[in-house]
Amino acid sequence: MNTTTHSNQGLIATADIGDRKRGQTVSVENVTKVYQTASGPLRAIEETSFKIEPGEFVSVLGPSGCGKTTFLMVISGLIPCTTGRVKIGDQVIDKPYTDLGFVFQRDVLMDWRTVLSNVMLPVEIKKLKPIEKYQERAHELLKMAGLSGFEKSLPCELSGGMRQRVSICRALVSDPPILLMDEPFGALDALTREQMNDDLLKIWSKSRSMVLFITHNISEAVYLSDRIIVMSQRPGRILEILDLSDLPRPRNIATKELPAFNKHINRIRHIFVNQGILSGGEEDQKFILQD
Ligand SMILES: Nc1ncnc2c1ncn2[C@@H]1O[C@H](COP(=O)(O)OP(=O)(O)O)[C@@H](O)[C@H]1O
Ligand SMILES: [Mg+2]
Repeated sequence: MNTTTHSNQGLIATADIGDRKRGQTVSVENVTKVYQTASGPLRAIEETSFKIEPGEFVSVLGPSGCGKTTFLMVISGLIPCTTGRVKIGDQVIDKPYTDLGFVFQRDVLMDWRTVLSNVMLPVEIKKLKPIEKYQERAHELLKMAGLSGFEKSLPCELSGGMRQRVSICRALVSDPPILLMDEPFGALDALTREQMNDDLLKIWSKSRSMVLFITHNISEAVYLSDRIIVMSQRPGRILEILDLSDLPRPRNIATKELPAFNKHINRIRHIFVNQGILSGGEEDQKFILQD
């Protein structure tokens, strides 16, 4: 459902009533990416194909440098792929696709703008109307993200977690059917990160955007996702796609105690041990998933 109605419950509440089939399928078809560098061609992504359905929460999990950010850039049309193609619905992506939200690893808030006007930035850039509708949505998102009362604050007055929450609100203010998130919580401490995961799921459960979430944190990927695309080291290729539909939603602290939760974590660890990405032992405990 495209959320265009404007009930007195507000836009997010309206989206909540809708089914999960907002937006269109993203198809990655035989995509490769080779960067031309000063020292010659650098193969970032091996030939890769997958589909993500509307409303799905899919994580891409892989070691540092395996091409995760490259994937997001290709899917959003910010950079071209070398071979293959990306389609969103029937549209072949050959230029930046604007009907999506993007959250980067480090928040890129404008320091001189208030929280509310940072969130409203995409509305201004895209000249979306009526402005009041989007202002109401911005307030709702900020409330849901626990930022009520901070609308007039400047980014420098907020903690790292709060700033990243503002970034998520900004990415969602135009109600895009697709949300791309590039290691959005990578710079946060572990406790804040756990809280952000729950906040993200709460916001997502209302907006039902498709989320493509990049991470190198195994338990974060399992906790959040419907499916996980597990990537190899560079040049990135898909090692396995895990289906997490045996983890019920809504997810909460009890989810982490389910046998299925640990089964998925162990499965992924084994994949990485087999690839030499994790050592799997006490000696030489190499963990190069972390930056
Ligand atoms: N613009 C670029 N030019 C040349 N090489 C790049 C560029 N962007 C990324 N790379 C290289 O491509 C590989 C994949 O990078 P990236 O997609 O950022 O990986 P990840 O996000 O998984 O850490 C890395 O080896 C990186 O150095
Ligand atoms: Mg990256």
